[in-house]
Amino acid sequence: MDNLINLDQASELAPGVYWVGAGTKTFLSRNSFLRIFKGNGTTGTLLIDPGPTNDLDSLSQKVSAVLPGGLAKINLAFINHQDPDVLGVLPTLTKLNQNLTVIATEDTWRLANLNGMSQTPFRAVDKVQGQRVVLPTGHKLQFIPTPFCHFRGACMIYDLESRILFTGDLFGGIAASGLHATESNWAGIKAFHQLYMPSNEAIRLAINKIRALDPAPLALMPQHGGLIKGELIELFMNRMEELQVGLDIISSLSEKMPALIAGLNEIMGEVRNILGADEVHRIMGFFKPDGTYPAMFTLGDDEQVKDIKGEPVEAVEALLRIFLKFSTEKQKELLCPKILQILLQRGLPPFDFLLTRDDQPMDLSIE
Ligand SMILES: [Fe+2]
Ligand SMILES: [Fe+2]
Repeated sequence: MDNLINLDQASELAPGVYWVGAGTKTFLSRNSFLRIFKGNGTTGTLLIDPGPTNDLDSLSQKVSAVLPGGLAKINLAFINHQDPDVLGVLPTLTKLNQNLTVIATEDTWRLANLNGMSQTPFRAVDKVQGQRVVLPTGHKLQFIPTPFCHFRGACMIYDLESRILFTGDLFGGIAASGLHATESNWAGIKAFHQLYMPSNEAIRLAINKIRALDPAPLALMPQHGGLIKGELIELFMNRMEELQVGLDIISSLSEKMPALIAGLNEIMGEVRNILGADEVHRIMGFFKPDGTYPAMFTLGDDEQVKDIKGEPVEAVEALLRIFLKFSTEKQKELLCPKILQILLQRGLPPFDFLLTRDDQPMDLSIE
C-alpha cells in the first residue's frame, strides 16, 4: 500500500489530517502535518512542525492542494522545539498571515522568536490549564512536554479526535523508505536517537507520559522518518525504554572497551576489503610511535587492535576519519553504511560524520 502513496503530494492520514512533509528521498526526511478542523459553523487550521526553509516550495504546493488559499490561510502553527528543521519556514508564514498564532513551550519560544518573530502572536503551552485546549470548532488538543527529548522545552501535541500523537524528534528515524513505518524502520530510529537524544532517562519519562494518555494514541507521528501505527507503537515503545543513547553510551564506553576493540577490528576488516590490506597497513603506520599521529592504538603483529589509549571515542573517531580521508567517493559510499551497521550492532556510538559524510577538516583560519 505504502508504495502507492505519491510523496510529491499531500497525503490524507485521517479525516482532516494531512501529511505535507518533504525530503522523503533523503537520509533525513521531514514530516509536517496540516490539521483542518471543521465544526460549530467555523474552520480552523493548524500546521504542526512546519519544516525547514529549504522545504518552503514543497510545503506551499502541498498545503495549497488541500487548503484553498494555501499557506496564508493557516491560523495556528505548533512547533515541538526551535530547531531549524522544525521552524525554518515559520517567519515566512507569519508574514503571509500576521494573525498566525504560534503554539509552543516558553522555553522553545524564548529562542524561536529570535528568528524575526518577536511580534508574532504566541500562546504558551505552559499556561494552558490542564494542558488541554478546546478549539472554537469543538476539537480538543492536549500538550505533552517531553523535557530533553531532545531539547529542554520539547513538547508533543495530541489530537484527541484522530488520536494521533505528534511526537517531534522523539520516534524520528533516518533512512526511512515510504511514509509508514514497518519493523525495519527500527534501525534508523535507533541510530537517530543514539545521536540526538541525551539519555535513556529522558526517553523513559516521555514514554511514561505516552502510556498514560487516555485514550491511547492510534498513531505516533514523528518529525522524521516513518509514521508508526498499530502493533509497532508498543514494540517501538518497549525497545525505546531499553535503548542506550547519547550520554548513556559515552559514559558507559569504558565498560565497553572489549566491544569497541572488537568492533574496530571488524571495521578494519571491512576497510581492508574495500581499500586493500596494503593501504590499511600504510594508514595504521601513522599510529605507530614514530608515525605522524600519537600512538593511540596498540597493534598486534597480526595488525589487529589490542588496546586503545586515551579517550576511546576520540581515538576511534580519529581513525575512522583517516580511513575516509584516504577513500574515494565510491569507497566512502560503500564504507560508511558498513561502519555504521557494525557500530550499531555492537551498541557503539554512530558518529554523525558517517551520516553526513562531512569528513573534511573544518577551516577555522581567520583572513
Ligand atoms: Fe531537533
Ligand atoms: Fe528534527
